[in-house]
Amino acid sequence: MIDDRILRGIPGLDSGDTVKQVDASQMDEKTFRREHINTNTPVLIKGGLKHWPAFDKWSKKGFLEEIGKGSEVNYHRHLNFSNDKRMKATAKKHDFVEAIDEMRSGINEILFMRVNFQLKPFNKLKEDMDGFKFLPKKPKPLYYPDSRMFIYKGAGSSWHLHVLDETLMCQVAGRKRVAFIPTNDSNYQELKDIFYSDKLMEDDNCMRHMKGRIKPLVADVEAGDALYIPPNWWHGVQPLDSEVGMTIPYCWRSPYHKISNLRYPAVREMYKDAFKKPSLATIVVPIYGLLTMMAQCVHRAKQLVGR
Ligand SMILES: [Fe+2]
Repeated sequence: MIDDRILRGIPGLDSGDTVKQVDASQMDEKTFRREHINTNTPVLIKGGLKHWPAFDKWSKKGFLEEIGKGSEVNYHRHLNFSNDKRMKATAKKHDFVEAIDEMRSGINEILFMRVNFQLKPFNKLKEDMDGFKFLPKKPKPLYYPDSRMFIYKGAGSSWHLHVLDETLMCQVAGRKRVAFIPTNDSNYQELKDIFYSDKLMEDDNCMRHMKGRIKPLVADVEAGDALYIPPNWWHGVQPLDSEVGMTIPYCWRSPYHKISNLRYPAVREMYKDAFKKPSLATIVVPIYGLLTMMAQCVHRAKQLVGR
């Protein structure tokens, strides 16, 4: 069983463009930075994490069970909703090994859990993640954890965007389809209302009138692939099989010239929110804004002189 409500009601998905694919052996630091990070353009890096010990080890029965013995996780009997309140309301503490056993039992249900790599014993799993030659420096992300893991059966992640931080969606097991829609156009507010109210989950036809107005980009991700998800793109994720899947969102801070770029509506909202009532954000957001402005000047000057 796959919960397909995330993508089935998106108009234009079947005729949409596909995300550019590059074999991992052909991707280098300069290309990744210039053609993808700096331009905020998604790319599917085929076989990007096949060199990680995690790719061979984690799907073997018994390995994760041994690491997580005696630990509890938040376990959900539904997909990963972008609405945090909804996720918190339904989170049930569950024994990790029992949850994995249930997922592998062949049960015909939608199941999802998040594994926190910042906490013992799961922090040990980071030793099996060998990084990427095209990403030698990975500054600490501003908002997201640097890595965590989703283990799921038939469960995707509903539509959302990341205002901050860069992400590589690292697929350790299972296949997924990821669809992207830009945020820097006139559809932003309407899509935000649909996606964050989970209207799409209840009504497949609620976006039918947007046919021709939105142009989704699609990537089919297989085990061993890494998909670059830049900030400020709507994205919805749906499994392509009902196997037990494992995904690691692997995050790092954006280069300064990209942080808080005001061309994106979600960034403008972040600024407005920071000034609504005094908080830490009231101090931090303008400082980053100033840094970004200066970094953008340097970045553009380098582009002009061809560096
Ligand atoms: Fe995401």
